[in-house]
Amino acid sequence: MKTNRIIRVPINEAEGIRRNLVETGKLDHERKIKIIEYNSKRFLEIPVICSIKGFRTYDQQEAIFYRKWRSLTDILKAEILDIELEKLPSGWHIIGDIIVVSIDPCIAHLKKRIAQALLCMYPSCNTVVRDLGISGKFRLPEREILVGNSTETIHKENSCLFKIDVTKTMFSKGNLHEKALMSRIGKHETIVDMFAGIGYFTIPMAVHAKPVKIVAIELNPQSYMYLKDNISLNRVGNIVEPVNGDCAYATPYGIADRVMMGYVGTTHHYLDQGIAALKKKGGVLHYHETAPECHLFSRPISRIQEAALRAGRNADIIECRKIKKYSPGVWHVVVDAHII
Ligand SMILES: C[S@@+](CC[C@H](N)C(=O)[O-])C[C@H]1O[C@@H](n2cnc3c(N)ncnc32)[C@H](O)[C@@H]1O
Repeated sequence: MKTNRIIRVPINEAEGIRRNLVETGKLDHERKIKIIEYNSKRFLEIPVICSIKGFRTYDQQEAIFYRKWRSLTDILKAEILDIELEKLPSGWHIIGDIIVVSIDPCIAHLKKRIAQALLCMYPSCNTVVRDLGISGKFRLPEREILVGNSTETIHKENSCLFKIDVTKTMFSKGNLHEKALMSRIGKHETIVDMFAGIGYFTIPMAVHAKPVKIVAIELNPQSYMYLKDNISLNRVGNIVEPVNGDCAYATPYGIADRVMMGYVGTTHHYLDQGIAALKKKGGVLHYHETAPECHLFSRPISRIQEAALRAGRNADIIECRKIKKYSPGVWHVVVDAHII
């Protein structure tokens, strides 16, 4: 039988402890926090899913459970029109304690109400932001705060912690499989991550594969700041060397067993630097590109092969993968190539 575990904390310390439990994934989201009186003092009982270091856990009497809403439609059907119901978002992303949702412009007048309804569905979340797309060289998100005020959060994924401000840097949840795949390779290697962002590939590789070294290059000073925070948060400072610079100039030469080129749009402009970063004896390139359906893998493959030839080297293609649909008729793909 499931026990309703709680920790008892003084009211003035509760918010910090609750946030920490959210960040570490130990808060029980199904039950409400309760105020109780114990030995004539008032405490908060915070529901948890496991024992918590530094606290005694108790079995809670009379737990109060959140009402479970099944869907946005369930919550809003009594108050909005049927044609508006059809336009409600069917999905959203949860990054730490922030909900990121795209809202059809036809129902933009309902955006605050939709945000409140989402918070009812996810009581442990504190902020809802509307996603208006990602653009530019830095892949900057355009986002509007609908409810709440804190846009900085800590997101846990694949046992790694990512500190991020969802209005300042992108966090792609669409390439979970690719990130998990990369986190398993690279042991004993030196790796160069040319477009490191806040550490989407660098952190899982450092935490799980534990390479000898990762040089993580990021141009945007704000993403670089979060990259440095994430290196500390995940305690991988002994492995990752962050570099704030343009990989066109900052990519090291001839040191890498593996090079990550996790960028889309103009990635091919940096292929010469990516290949030059690999050791003379050879290494593996993970090259990302947004390719039209008609040249899905042929265009990235020929770009890699041409760049290898320019460098007087050869490219053996190891594998090609589709990551996700980028726009109508265009896919984000990745090609792994052995460069010798
Ligand atoms: C799409 S994000 C990182 C994506 C991440 N690898 C993923 O797949 O989720 C790409 C990053 O490359 C950075 N960037 C763009 N051009 C760059 C350059 N020339 N040198 C270094 N970083 C660059 C952007 O600021 C951005 O943070």
